[in-house]
Amino acid sequence: MSQTTDRVLVVVPTYNERESIPGALARLREHVPDSDVLVVDDGSPDGTGALVEEIAAAEAADRGRTAVHVMHRAGKLGLGTAYMAGFAWGLERGYDVIVEMDADGSHRAQDLPLLLAALPGADLVLGSRWVPGGSVVNWPANRLFLSRGANLYTRLALGFPIKDATGGFRAYRADLLRSMALDEVASQGYCFQVDMTWRAVRSGARVVEVPITFVERELGRSKMSQTIVVEALLRVTWWGMQERSRRLAGAFRGGRGATHEA
Ligand code: GDD
Ligand code: MN
Repeated sequence: MSQTTDRVLVVVPTYNERESIPGALARLREHVPDSDVLVVDDGSPDGTGALVEEIAAAEAADRGRTAVHVMHRAGKLGLGTAYMAGFAWGLERGYDVIVEMDADGSHRAQDLPLLLAALPGADLVLGSRWVPGGSVVNWPANRLFLSRGANLYTRLALGFPIKDATGGFRAYRADLLRSMALDEVASQGYCFQVDMTWRAVRSGARVVEVPITFVERELGRSKMSQTIVVEALLRVTWWGMQERSRRLAGAFRGGRGATHEA
């Protein structure tokens, strides 16, 4: 299988992750030593960007090659746009696989080889908390409720079988990203994850869920906010309405004897 020769880029968005990022980078190096990392830092006031520059330089000297890269953006522009910028960077440089991963330790580097191992049979592998074998450690009841609720609502609104469409630990084949109209993606916050899942499913991509253990961060703070939740709710509702009218139109055309769309 092509897995061992694939060039893998792990994109890690950061905003004020000074305490978490050294450990996250060290664990990536330990568990996926051949992968490169791109940290997309949104001008973190706590100096995350400068710290990653230091780690990158030390690692490059140590390894004899630059494995950790940093993109500095002017300010907090949102998770969605951070990933879009990271994807563009990786596609320009010819990576075969692009991974999304949080900086705060919630996504365990030791699970990444499992995600990559599923890629030969998939275009998008989702690290899933909500399939058998998946779990969340140390989340308060309100966060569990939010994630379960968001995923249930998404499944019902969009009519797809994905159990964890909001998660942010996933591996894309670069070819899938290249085939998607990424300039049309407008999601700024965490609903970017649902947006991308939805686009992948609709494009007929093979989307596979692999169980992961999500461990709530021990250092720093979550950037989840009411704005992020509201954006997700509005967008998913809108996509659901569009999907329903598409299906209705399809059924109507089918009813009149025209070819039925799948
Ligand atoms: N560059 C950049 N810009 N990074 C950001 C921004 C931003 O505006 N907002 C958040 N991040 C980074 C954080 O620094 C962290 O590395 C990662 O994105 C996830 O942020 P958290 O704030 O730790 O998210 P969470 O733990 O509350 O949410 C998790 O669950 C969500 C729902 O399932 C994440 O896995 C999300 O990706 C996921 O959507
Ligand atoms: Mn987190």
